Amino acid sequence: MSGTTPDELIIRRATLEDRQAIYEIQRSAILETCRRSYPEEDVTVWAGLLSPDSYHAIHDRYFVVAERGGRILGFGRLDEQEGEVEAIYVSPAAERAGIGSAILRHLEARARECGLKELKVRSTLNAESFYARHGYQHLALIRYRLVPSLMLNCVEMRKQL
Ligand SMILES: CC(C)(COP(=O)(O)OP(=O)(O)OC[C@H]1O[C@@H](n2cnc3c(N)ncnc32)[C@H](O)[C@@H]1OP(=O)(O)O)[C@@H](O)C(=O)NCCC(=O)NCCS
Repeated sequence: MSGTTPDELIIRRATLEDRQAIYEIQRSAILETCRRSYPEEDVTVWAGLLSPDSYHAIHDRYFVVAERGGRILGFGRLDEQEGEVEAIYVSPAAERAGIGSAILRHLEARARECGLKELKVRSTLNAESFYARHGYQHLALIRYRLVPSLMLNCVEMRKQL
């Protein structure tokens, strides 16, 4: 018999139907997880930039969701042209359970399939330990301009695949 067990984590390509769940995960992760490393005013502006309609990259990027028992718990986005992990977000209710790692390993496998030899990431401050744990090296502290009114301190990191 084929199929999946209810507690199996599945990583699959995102679809437009997933936009609401993706939006809710990113919003709550910014307001709760990123809030530990950024000022409240910044995370409020940052979260306010999002809407379910902002996920156009579902079509023009390698965009995946992690799902368990039919519930989306995280997502990841890879820019195959630039060799960049653009985002990994996990629901705060599901953090430290290996979901982010599963998404990152999936994106790295995809990058290797595309012939990429290295990956970069502009990591949030709160996610630096996560990427370091996966072999990404700290290159520089940078200021990342999300919108003209919001610059975020981030860490540029790189890994040889
Ligand atoms: C970063 C993030 C994706 C990690 O997802 P996760 O599912 O919680 O990560 P995992 O459970 O796979 O963690 C793997 C390892 O990374 C490290 N790690 C993860 N989160 C960490 C944290 N907050 N502090 C320190 N180390 C951390 C640990 O070594 C962890 O292993 P352990 O739990 O056995 O100690 C998640 O915290 C998140 O969504 N953060 C908010 C969004 C964000 O900033 N994304 C990055 C944007 S580029």
